[in-house]
Amino acid sequence: MTKRNSLQFAVQSGCLDGVFQNQVVGWAWNSLTPDEPVDVDIYINGELDKTIKADRYREDLLEAGIGNGAHCFMYPLPPENNGSTYLLSVRLAGTTSEISKSPIWINGNEKLKTKSHLTTLKLDPDNIAFSLENLEAATIDHLLIDINDTCNAECVYCPNPRTKKRIELEQFQTLLDRCVEKVDTLQIGCGQEPTLDVRLPDFYRALHSSKLKPRRLTMITNATMLHRHDVGFFRDCGLTDLQISLDTVDPEINAITRRGTELEQIVKNLRYFREKCPDLGVIFSVVVNSMTIGGIEDLIKFGDSLGVSHYYLREVFDHAPASLIPRNDDYKDWIKKISLKPGEFQQMQQRLSRHRSIKKISFIAAEGLGSVLQDMRQADGSVRFS
Ligand SMILES: C[S@@+](CC[C@H](N)C(=O)[O-])C[C@H]1O[C@@H](n2cnc3c(N)ncnc32)[C@H](O)[C@@H]1O
Ligand code: SF4
Repeated sequence: MTKRNSLQFAVQSGCLDGVFQNQVVGWAWNSLTPDEPVDVDIYINGELDKTIKADRYREDLLEAGIGNGAHCFMYPLPPENNGSTYLLSVRLAGTTSEISKSPIWINGNEKLKTKSHLTTLKLDPDNIAFSLENLEAATIDHLLIDINDTCNAECVYCPNPRTKKRIELEQFQTLLDRCVEKVDTLQIGCGQEPTLDVRLPDFYRALHSSKLKPRRLTMITNATMLHRHDVGFFRDCGLTDLQISLDTVDPEINAITRRGTELEQIVKNLRYFREKCPDLGVIFSVVVNSMTIGGIEDLIKFGDSLGVSHYYLREVFDHAPASLIPRNDDYKDWIKKISLKPGEFQQMQQRLSRHRSIKKISFIAAEGLGSVLQDMRQADGSVRFS
Protein backbone atom coordinates (compact mmCIF):
# COMPACT_ATOMS: atom_id res chain seq x y z
CA MET A 1 0.00 0.00 0.00
CA THR A 2 1.38 3.43 -0.80
CA LYS A 3 1.45 5.85 2.08
CA ARG A 4 -0.90 8.77 1.60
CA ASN A 5 0.20 12.26 2.37
CA SER A 6 -1.40 14.66 4.80
CA LEU A 7 -2.99 16.63 1.99
CA GLN A 8 -5.08 13.62 1.09
CA PHE A 9 -5.99 13.23 4.75
CA ALA A 10 -7.05 16.82 4.84
CA VAL A 11 -9.60 16.68 2.08
CA GLN A 12 -11.63 13.54 2.59
CA SER A 13 -14.19 12.82 5.24
CA GLY A 14 -17.43 11.03 5.89
CA CYS A 15 -19.60 9.37 8.48
CA LEU A 16 -21.51 6.14 8.83
CA ASP A 17 -24.78 7.40 10.28
CA GLY A 18 -26.33 3.99 10.96
CA VAL A 19 -28.65 1.33 9.66
CA PHE A 20 -32.24 2.34 8.90
CA GLN A 21 -34.79 -0.10 7.51
CA ASN A 22 -32.08 -2.50 6.39
CA GLN A 23 -30.10 0.20 4.63
CA VAL A 24 -26.68 1.38 5.69
CA VAL A 25 -26.73 5.17 5.51
CA GLY A 26 -23.88 7.66 5.62
CA TRP A 27 -22.03 10.30 3.70
CA ALA A 28 -18.60 10.98 2.27
CA TRP A 29 -17.04 13.85 0.36
CA ASN A 30 -13.85 15.52 -0.71
CA SER A 31 -13.58 19.15 0.29
CA LEU A 32 -11.20 19.95 -2.56
CA THR A 33 -13.90 19.02 -5.07
CA PRO A 34 -16.88 19.91 -2.86
CA ASP A 35 -19.63 19.35 -5.43
CA GLU A 36 -18.28 16.12 -6.93
CA PRO A 37 -19.54 12.81 -5.52
CA VAL A 38 -16.95 10.37 -4.14
CA ASP A 39 -16.99 6.57 -4.08
CA VAL A 40 -16.96 4.45 -0.94
CA ASP A 41 -16.02 0.80 -0.50
CA ILE A 42 -18.36 -1.40 1.53
CA TYR A 43 -16.56 -4.19 3.38
CA ILE A 44 -18.18 -7.15 5.08
CA ASN A 45 -15.99 -8.94 7.61
CA GLY A 46 -12.94 -7.31 6.05
CA GLU A 47 -13.78 -8.29 2.47
CA LEU A 48 -14.76 -5.82 -0.20
CA ASP A 49 -18.43 -6.32 -1.04
CA LYS A 50 -19.14 -3.38 -3.32
CA THR A 51 -18.01 0.10 -4.32
CA ILE A 52 -20.85 2.63 -4.41
CA LYS A 53 -21.26 6.32 -5.09
CA ALA A 54 -22.07 8.78 -2.32
CA ASP A 55 -24.18 11.08 -4.47
CA ARG A 56 -27.62 11.35 -2.87
CA TYR A 57 -28.85 14.74 -1.77
CA ARG A 58 -29.51 15.45 1.88
CA GLU A 59 -30.68 18.81 3.19
CA ASP A 60 -28.76 18.46 6.48
CA LEU A 61 -25.49 17.91 4.59
CA LEU A 62 -26.01 21.10 2.61
CA GLU A 63 -26.81 22.95 5.83
CA ALA A 64 -23.69 21.55 7.46
CA GLY A 65 -21.59 22.94 4.60
CA ILE A 66 -20.85 19.56 3.04
CA GLY A 67 -20.53 20.78 -0.56
CA ASN A 68 -23.81 20.86 -2.49
CA GLY A 69 -25.36 18.32 -0.10
CA ALA A 70 -25.35 15.48 -2.66
CA HIS A 71 -22.94 13.26 -0.75
CA CYS A 72 -25.08 10.68 0.99
CA PHE A 73 -24.91 6.96 0.25
CA MET A 74 -27.41 4.21 0.99
CA TYR A 75 -26.54 0.55 0.81
CA PRO A 76 -29.08 -2.25 1.26
CA LEU A 77 -27.78 -4.93 3.61
CA PRO A 78 -27.17 -8.09 1.58
CA PRO A 79 -30.13 -10.49 2.06
CA GLU A 80 -27.81 -13.54 2.07
CA ASN A 81 -26.36 -12.24 5.33
CA ASN A 82 -29.77 -11.99 6.97
CA GLY A 83 -29.66 -13.41 10.44
CA SER A 84 -25.91 -13.58 10.64
CA THR A 85 -23.69 -11.25 12.57
CA TYR A 86 -21.00 -9.37 10.74
CA LEU A 87 -18.74 -6.39 10.81
CA LEU A 88 -19.59 -3.80 8.21
CA SER A 89 -17.13 -1.10 7.34
CA VAL A 90 -17.20 1.78 4.91
CA ARG A 91 -13.96 3.18 3.55
CA LEU A 92 -13.08 5.90 1.12
CA ALA A 93 -12.79 4.00 -2.15
CA GLY A 94 -9.42 2.45 -2.81
CA THR A 95 -8.04 3.36 0.62
CA THR A 96 -7.86 1.80 4.07
CA SER A 97 -9.45 4.94 5.57
CA GLU A 98 -12.61 4.04 7.43
CA ILE A 99 -15.13 6.86 7.50
CA SER A 100 -16.15 8.12 10.91
CA LYS A 101 -18.14 5.65 13.07
CA SER A 102 -17.13 2.73 10.84
CA PRO A 103 -16.88 -0.21 11.35
CA ILE A 104 -20.12 -1.30 13.00
CA TRP A 105 -21.54 -4.62 14.02
CA ILE A 106 -24.62 -5.77 12.17
CA ASN A 107 -26.45 -7.77 14.73
CA GLY A 108 -27.92 -11.08 13.56
CA ASN A 109 -28.63 -14.45 15.13
CA GLU A 110 -25.62 -16.35 13.85
CA LYS A 111 -22.10 -15.84 15.10
CA LEU A 112 -19.43 -14.17 13.08
CA LYS A 113 -17.57 -16.79 11.08
CA THR A 114 -14.41 -18.03 12.70
CA LYS A 115 -11.06 -17.00 11.33
CA SER A 116 -12.40 -13.65 10.18
CA HIS A 117 -9.97 -10.86 9.47
CA LEU A 118 -10.90 -7.44 10.81
CA THR A 119 -9.01 -4.28 9.98
CA THR A 120 -10.03 -2.18 12.96
CA LEU A 121 -12.05 -3.08 16.00
CA LYS A 122 -12.74 -0.80 18.91
CA LEU A 123 -13.89 -2.52 22.07
CA ASP A 124 -15.46 -0.73 25.00
CA PRO A 125 -17.77 -1.55 27.90
CA ASP A 126 -20.79 -1.09 25.64
CA ASN A 127 -19.88 -3.55 22.91
CA ILE A 128 -17.68 -6.06 24.76
CA ALA A 129 -20.43 -8.55 25.65
CA PHE A 130 -21.71 -8.55 22.10
CA SER A 131 -18.21 -8.92 20.70
CA LEU A 132 -17.40 -11.84 22.99
CA GLU A 133 -20.51 -13.62 21.83
CA ASN A 134 -19.74 -13.12 18.19
CA LEU A 135 -16.01 -13.18 17.65
CA GLU A 136 -14.02 -16.32 17.34
CA ALA A 137 -10.33 -16.65 16.52
CA ALA A 138 -10.28 -13.39 14.61
CA THR A 139 -7.17 -11.80 13.17
CA ILE A 140 -7.27 -8.08 13.88
CA ASP A 141 -4.93 -5.50 12.43
CA HIS A 142 -5.74 -2.77 14.90
CA LEU A 143 -7.50 -3.48 18.15
CA LEU A 144 -8.41 -0.54 20.39
CA ILE A 145 -9.69 -1.10 23.89
CA ASP A 146 -11.27 1.28 26.37
CA ILE A 147 -11.31 -0.75 29.57
CA ASN A 148 -13.20 2.01 31.39
CA ASP A 149 -15.64 4.68 30.35
CA THR A 150 -14.40 7.70 32.18
CA CYS A 151 -11.65 10.27 32.52
CA ASN A 152 -10.21 12.55 35.20
CA ALA A 153 -9.90 15.60 32.94
CA GLU A 154 -12.32 18.02 31.31
CA CYS A 155 -10.67 19.05 28.07
CA VAL A 156 -12.88 21.72 26.55
CA TYR A 157 -12.85 20.11 23.10
CA CYS A 158 -13.64 16.54 24.20
CA PRO A 159 -17.37 15.68 24.14
CA ASN A 160 -17.18 12.00 25.09
CA PRO A 161 -19.88 11.08 27.61
CA ARG A 162 -18.85 9.04 30.67
CA THR A 163 -20.32 6.24 32.70
CA LYS A 164 -19.18 3.86 35.41
CA LYS A 165 -19.25 0.95 32.99
CA ARG A 166 -16.09 -1.03 32.44
CA ILE A 167 -14.73 -4.11 30.71
CA GLU A 168 -14.31 -6.84 33.30
CA LEU A 169 -10.96 -8.61 33.53
CA GLU A 170 -12.66 -11.96 32.89
CA GLN A 171 -14.18 -10.55 29.71
CA PHE A 172 -10.74 -9.41 28.60
CA GLN A 173 -9.34 -12.83 29.33
CA THR A 174 -12.07 -14.51 27.31
CA LEU A 175 -11.32 -12.14 24.48
CA LEU A 176 -7.64 -13.10 24.54
CA ASP A 177 -8.26 -16.81 24.97
CA ARG A 178 -11.03 -17.42 22.52
CA CYS A 179 -12.06 -14.48 20.40
CA VAL A 180 -8.81 -13.20 19.01
CA GLU A 181 -6.11 -15.27 17.36
CA LYS A 182 -3.73 -12.55 16.23
CA VAL A 183 -3.35 -8.81 16.61
CA ASP A 184 -0.87 -6.55 14.90
CA THR A 185 -1.36 -3.36 16.94
CA LEU A 186 -3.17 -3.26 20.24
CA GLN A 187 -3.96 0.12 21.74
CA ILE A 188 -5.06 0.51 25.33
CA GLY A 189 -7.19 3.62 25.69
CA CYS A 190 -9.03 5.36 22.93
CA GLY A 191 -11.88 7.66 23.94
CA GLN A 192 -11.33 7.68 27.72
CA GLU A 193 -8.42 7.61 30.17
CA PRO A 194 -6.93 4.15 30.88
CA THR A 195 -4.56 5.17 33.70
CA LEU A 196 -7.53 6.11 35.84
CA ASP A 197 -8.34 2.44 36.18
CA VAL A 198 -6.57 0.78 39.11
CA ARG A 199 -7.02 -2.58 37.39
CA LEU A 200 -4.74 -1.53 34.55
CA PRO A 201 -1.75 -3.71 35.66
CA ASP A 202 -4.08 -6.74 35.71
CA PHE A 203 -4.95 -6.12 32.07
CA TYR A 204 -1.28 -5.91 31.14
CA ARG A 205 -0.58 -9.09 33.10
CA ALA A 206 -3.43 -10.91 31.36
CA LEU A 207 -2.17 -9.81 28.00
CA HIS A 208 1.39 -10.82 28.78
CA SER A 209 0.41 -14.32 29.81
CA SER A 210 -1.87 -14.79 26.79
CA LYS A 211 -0.93 -16.23 23.41
CA LEU A 212 -1.25 -12.83 21.78
CA LYS A 213 2.01 -11.12 21.02
CA PRO A 214 1.08 -7.86 19.29
CA ARG A 215 3.84 -6.38 17.19
CA ARG A 216 2.95 -3.03 18.72
CA LEU A 217 1.38 -2.53 22.13
CA THR A 218 0.63 1.10 22.77
CA MET A 219 -1.31 3.14 25.30
CA ILE A 220 -2.75 6.63 24.96
CA THR A 221 -2.90 8.77 28.07
CA ASN A 222 -3.12 12.32 29.33
CA ALA A 223 -0.11 11.45 31.57
CA THR A 224 -1.62 13.02 34.69
CA MET A 225 -1.70 9.72 36.57
CA LEU A 226 1.41 8.02 35.23
CA HIS A 227 3.06 8.38 38.63
CA ARG A 228 0.46 6.01 40.07
CA HIS A 229 1.56 3.21 37.75
CA ASP A 230 4.68 1.20 37.18
CA VAL A 231 5.24 1.79 33.48
CA GLY A 232 8.33 -0.44 33.70
CA PHE A 233 5.97 -3.29 34.50
CA PHE A 234 3.82 -2.42 31.48
CA ARG A 235 6.99 -2.45 29.34
CA ASP A 236 7.90 -5.87 30.73
CA CYS A 237 4.43 -6.98 29.67
CA GLY A 238 5.09 -5.90 26.09
CA LEU A 239 4.29 -2.18 25.96
CA THR A 240 6.24 -0.73 23.04
CA ASP A 241 5.25 2.93 23.18
CA LEU A 242 3.19 5.54 24.96
CA GLN A 243 1.09 8.14 23.19
CA ILE A 244 0.95 11.25 25.30
CA SER A 245 -1.74 13.84 24.69
CA LEU A 246 -0.18 17.22 25.27
CA ASP A 247 -1.01 20.45 23.47
CA THR A 248 1.18 23.10 25.07
CA VAL A 249 4.00 23.77 27.49
CA ASP A 250 2.28 26.92 28.71
CA PRO A 251 0.75 26.04 32.10
CA GLU A 252 -1.97 28.69 31.82
CA ILE A 253 -3.15 27.59 28.39
CA ASN A 254 -3.02 23.98 29.51
CA ALA A 255 -5.18 24.79 32.54
CA ILE A 256 -7.76 26.46 30.29
CA THR A 257 -8.02 23.96 27.43
CA ARG A 258 -7.19 20.71 29.21
CA ARG A 259 -9.14 21.52 32.32
CA GLY A 260 -8.43 19.40 35.34
CA THR A 261 -4.87 18.59 34.27
CA GLU A 262 -1.80 20.26 35.70
CA LEU A 263 1.14 20.82 33.42
CA GLU A 264 3.68 20.69 36.23
CA GLN A 265 2.54 17.20 37.24
CA ILE A 266 2.48 16.01 33.62
CA VAL A 267 6.03 17.26 32.97
CA LYS A 268 7.24 15.68 36.20
CA ASN A 269 5.60 12.39 35.26
CA LEU A 270 7.09 12.41 31.78
CA ARG A 271 10.60 13.17 32.98
CA TYR A 272 10.41 10.48 35.65
CA PHE A 273 8.98 7.95 33.22
CA ARG A 274 11.71 8.76 30.68
CA GLU A 275 14.40 8.18 33.25
CA LYS A 276 12.90 4.83 34.22
CA CYS A 277 12.07 3.64 30.71
CA PRO A 278 14.51 5.23 28.25
CA ASP A 279 13.89 2.39 25.81
CA LEU A 280 10.13 2.91 25.37
CA GLY A 281 8.82 4.87 22.41
CA VAL A 282 7.06 8.17 23.13
CA ILE A 283 4.69 9.84 20.73
CA PHE A 284 3.03 13.20 21.26
CA SER A 285 -0.58 13.57 20.24
CA VAL A 286 -1.17 17.31 19.98
CA VAL A 287 -4.44 19.18 19.49
CA VAL A 288 -3.68 22.35 17.59
CA ASN A 289 -6.18 25.10 18.34
CA SER A 290 -6.24 28.88 18.42
CA MET A 291 -4.73 28.89 21.91
CA THR A 292 -1.97 26.33 21.32
CA ILE A 293 -0.92 27.06 17.73
CA GLY A 294 1.56 29.77 18.75
CA GLY A 295 3.47 27.46 21.09
CA ILE A 296 3.92 24.38 18.92
CA GLU A 297 7.66 24.95 18.46
CA ASP A 298 8.13 25.16 22.25
CA LEU A 299 6.17 21.94 22.66
CA ILE A 300 8.36 20.19 20.09
CA LYS A 301 11.46 21.48 21.86
CA PHE A 302 10.22 19.91 25.08
CA GLY A 303 9.30 16.70 23.24
CA ASP A 304 12.72 16.51 21.63
CA SER A 305 14.31 16.81 25.08
CA LEU A 306 12.32 13.70 26.03
CA GLY A 307 13.27 11.81 22.88
CA VAL A 308 9.79 11.90 21.35
CA SER A 309 9.85 9.84 18.18
CA HIS A 310 6.80 11.31 16.49
CA TYR A 311 4.40 14.24 16.74
CA TYR A 312 0.85 13.99 15.51
CA LEU A 313 -0.40 17.54 15.13
CA ARG A 314 -4.17 17.41 14.85
CA GLU A 315 -6.27 20.43 14.15
CA VAL A 316 -9.06 20.68 16.71
CA PHE A 317 -12.36 19.65 15.18
CA ASP A 318 -15.93 19.08 16.20
CA HIS A 319 -16.20 15.33 16.43
CA ALA A 320 -19.54 15.14 18.18
CA PRO A 321 -21.95 13.61 15.67
CA ALA A 322 -25.49 14.99 15.68
CA SER A 323 -26.68 11.99 17.70
CA LEU A 324 -24.21 12.59 20.56
CA ILE A 325 -25.02 14.96 23.37
CA PRO A 326 -21.66 16.36 24.46
CA ARG A 327 -20.80 15.77 28.11
CA ASN A 328 -19.94 19.40 28.62
CA ASP A 329 -22.62 22.06 28.00
CA ASP A 330 -20.05 24.53 26.72
CA TYR A 331 -18.50 22.09 24.21
CA LYS A 332 -19.92 23.71 21.05
CA ASP A 333 -19.02 27.21 22.29
CA TRP A 334 -15.46 26.11 22.97
CA ILE A 335 -15.12 24.46 19.58
CA LYS A 336 -16.21 27.72 17.97
CA LYS A 337 -13.87 29.70 20.17
CA ILE A 338 -10.72 27.65 19.63
CA SER A 339 -11.21 26.47 16.03
CA LEU A 340 -8.57 27.66 13.62
CA LYS A 341 -9.32 30.11 10.84
CA PRO A 342 -9.32 28.70 7.28
CA GLY A 343 -5.75 28.20 6.14
CA GLU A 344 -4.24 28.70 9.60
CA PHE A 345 -3.32 25.05 10.07
CA GLN A 346 -1.73 24.96 6.62
CA GLN A 347 0.26 28.11 7.44
CA MET A 348 1.59 26.42 10.56
CA GLN A 349 2.46 23.38 8.45
CA GLN A 350 4.35 25.65 6.08
CA ARG A 351 6.14 27.32 8.97
CA LEU A 352 7.19 23.99 10.42
CA SER A 353 8.36 22.64 7.08
CA ARG A 354 11.77 24.17 7.86
CA HIS A 355 11.85 22.81 11.42
CA ARG A 356 14.71 20.43 12.14
CA SER A 357 12.29 17.84 13.53
CA ILE A 358 9.99 18.01 10.49
CA LYS A 359 10.58 14.33 9.60
CA LYS A 360 8.97 13.39 12.91
CA ILE A 361 5.82 15.48 12.40
CA SER A 362 2.52 14.39 10.86
CA PHE A 363 -0.11 17.02 10.14
CA ILE A 364 -3.74 16.08 10.31
CA ALA A 365 -6.10 18.86 9.30
CA ALA A 366 -9.67 18.97 10.58
CA GLU A 367 -11.52 18.19 7.38
CA GLY A 368 -9.97 14.75 7.12
CA LEU A 369 -10.11 13.75 10.75
CA GLY A 370 -13.39 11.90 10.67
CA SER A 371 -11.81 9.33 8.42
CA VAL A 372 -8.18 9.57 9.40
CA LEU A 373 -8.75 9.00 13.08
CA GLN A 374 -10.39 5.74 12.26
CA ASP A 375 -7.50 4.54 10.21
CA MET A 376 -5.10 3.39 12.82
CA ARG A 377 -2.80 1.47 10.53
CA GLN A 378 -1.39 4.18 8.37
CA ALA A 379 -1.68 7.07 10.83
CA ASP A 380 0.26 4.83 13.21
CA GLY A 381 -0.29 6.44 16.54
CA SER A 382 -3.46 8.32 15.85
CA VAL A 383 -6.47 7.79 18.03
CA ARG A 384 -9.93 6.73 17.37
CA PHE A 385 -13.01 8.21 18.98
CA SER A 386 -16.06 6.30 19.96
C1 LIG B 1 -10.29 11.25 23.68
S1 LIG B 1 -8.59 11.20 24.18
C2 LIG B 1 -8.53 9.68 25.07
C3 LIG B 1 -7.20 9.30 25.62
C4 LIG B 1 -6.66 10.11 26.79
N1 LIG B 1 -7.64 10.53 27.70
C5 LIG B 1 -5.87 11.28 26.27
O1 LIG B 1 -6.33 12.41 26.34
O2 LIG B 1 -4.79 10.99 25.78
C6 LIG B 1 -7.77 10.78 22.70
C7 LIG B 1 -7.19 11.93 21.92
O3 LIG B 1 -8.21 12.69 21.32
C8 LIG B 1 -7.81 14.03 21.26
N2 LIG B 1 -9.00 14.86 21.08
C9 LIG B 1 -10.05 14.94 21.90
N3 LIG B 1 -10.95 15.81 21.42
C10 LIG B 1 -10.45 16.30 20.25
C11 LIG B 1 -10.91 17.26 19.29
N4 LIG B 1 -12.09 17.88 19.43
N5 LIG B 1 -10.14 17.53 18.23
C12 LIG B 1 -8.95 16.89 18.06
N6 LIG B 1 -8.46 15.97 18.92
C13 LIG B 1 -9.20 15.70 20.02
C14 LIG B 1 -7.12 14.18 22.60
O4 LIG B 1 -6.29 15.27 22.71
C15 LIG B 1 -6.35 12.91 22.71
O5 LIG B 1 -5.08 13.01 22.09
S1 SF4 C 1 -9.17 14.30 25.64
FE1 SF4 C 1 -8.56 12.60 26.96
S2 SF4 C 1 -7.91 13.64 28.83
FE2 SF4 C 1 -9.12 15.12 27.72
S3 SF4 C 1 -11.20 14.90 28.54
FE3 SF4 C 1 -11.05 13.63 26.68
S4 SF4 C 1 -10.54 11.62 27.42
FE4 SF4 C 1 -10.07 13.07 29.08
